[in-house]
Amino acid sequence: MERNIIYLWFCAFALVHGNQETSPQPPISDKLPSLIKMNNDFAFDLYKRLVEMPEYRSKNIFFSPLSISMALSELSLGAGGETKEQLLSGIGYNRSVFSTEEMHQMFHSLLEEIDQRTGVDIDVGTALYASDKSKPHPKFLENMKEFYHSDGFTVDFKAAETLDKINEYVKEKTHGKIDRAVDSLDPNTLMFLLTYIYFKGKWDMPFNPNKTSEDIFHVDNETTVPVQMMHQTELLKVYYDAELSTKVLCLDYNDSFSMFLAIPDEKKDLTINDLEKAISRQHIEKWRGSVWKRKLDVYVPKLSLKTDYTLNDILKGMGITDMFSHKADFSGIAEENFYVSKVLHKATLDVDEEGTTAAAVTTIEIKVALLPMLFRFDRPFMIFITDQKNDHILFLGKVVNPAV
Ligand SMILES: *[C@@H]1O[C@H](CO)[C@@H](O)[C@H](O)[C@H]1NC(C)=O
Ligand SMILES: *[C@@H]1O[C@H](CO)[C@@H](O)[C@H](O)[C@H]1NC(C)=O
Ligand SMILES: *[C@@H]1O[C@H](CO)[C@@H](O)[C@H](O)[C@H]1NC(C)=O
Ligand SMILES: *[C@@H]1O[C@H](CO)[C@@H](O)[C@H](O)[C@H]1NC(C)=O
Repeated sequence: MERNIIYLWFCAFALVHGNQETSPQPPISDKLPSLIKMNNDFAFDLYKRLVEMPEYRSKNIFFSPLSISMALSELSLGAGGETKEQLLSGIGYNRSVFSTEEMHQMFHSLLEEIDQRTGVDIDVGTALYASDKSKPHPKFLENMKEFYHSDGFTVDFKAAETLDKINEYVKEKTHGKIDRAVDSLDPNTLMFLLTYIYFKGKWDMPFNPNKTSEDIFHVDNETTVPVQMMHQTELLKVYYDAELSTKVLCLDYNDSFSMFLAIPDEKKDLTINDLEKAISRQHIEKWRGSVWKRKLDVYVPKLSLKTDYTLNDILKGMGITDMFSHKADFSGIAEENFYVSKVLHKATLDVDEEGTTAAAVTTIEIKVALLPMLFRFDRPFMIFITDQKNDHILFLGKVVNPAV
């Protein structure tokens, strides 16, 4: 209901605004493609950084870039100064394309748009947990709710059930796919922000389970593993990207959602590493209009993946550094000195004969900065020497001029 009210409010605003102008402003949703470009560029930037990390090299990778850019964009609502500039530039924001106000409005209109899609089961959202000891600025909370539909909770981070509460919330929102978003919570946490995404789509052309059988998957030129390989012979969408020497299969779900699978041409002696270095947003944009239907003999393995990333170092590599340090400026969230202690991302992917289920959560833990407080005795001051057992003052004095 709340969402509808906000949505109506926005429509009403657009109408009133439009009537007053001689040339009406186009609705913000007209600019949505530029936000999507920004998010997609961020997706590839993050992907390339992930695969370069030694611990993720030659591992399965799966994450939701939307969940991460949205979480960072939300955080920027409460950031100031260099912290804000770094967050914005990290997610690929370019002020000559749209204003930050427009960016938040576009995220809002993206959420509205996703909300209206009924052909697949998709849900994207946000929750903000604030310590009962913190005093967030009402403006920050309003913006979080207005632009990002954020749920808000006041909690005690010292209580053990807060961890369970957060995990229960994510578990429910991801239909059990992510049952433990956070493993532990620092009792000094002042705020905890999370974004989740859940997607469940059925294939337009389901695979027949009777045709699934054990087969071999070549991990590299020396290693093979057994997999349950699904199979179908159907008219399916396909494209050969000559620039990348890559074969592309497009498997559709309902309501224009699709999965693209891209595999380097075995005849060209290319590896997945060559492909992931060369690929960019522009290729995905090209594929949508380039696929064509032909009879295919398709083999796709059933998948069940779970991934888990600590993004602190990756984000620092993207130039988002200050928010992790004592330089953090979250003056838009509250008066306290905040910094971000952890950014985590967890995701799951299940692919079977019927379709796909994918879920992800990004969590941002915000703590009070333990700044070394400045104490300069460079003006007259008093001195007490006491017995701490009974507060008995043994000496008392004042220093007005230490130089005499
Ligand atoms: C920002 O966008 C403008 C206009 O599209 C473009 O000319 C400029 O190169 C972009 N800046 C960056 C840093 O990408
Ligand atoms: C596909 O989505 C439309 C609405 O977008 C819905 O009416 C239809 O039932 C869906 N079909 C399937 C097979 O889910
Ligand atoms: C799979 O095989 C079973 C038993 O042979 C048969 O009853 C069923 O119809 C088959 N399913 C499909 C989708 O072909
Ligand atoms: C297998 O691949 C590695 C690099 O991935 C290469 O060094 C090696 O020569 C290859 N072996 C064969 C038999 O092709």
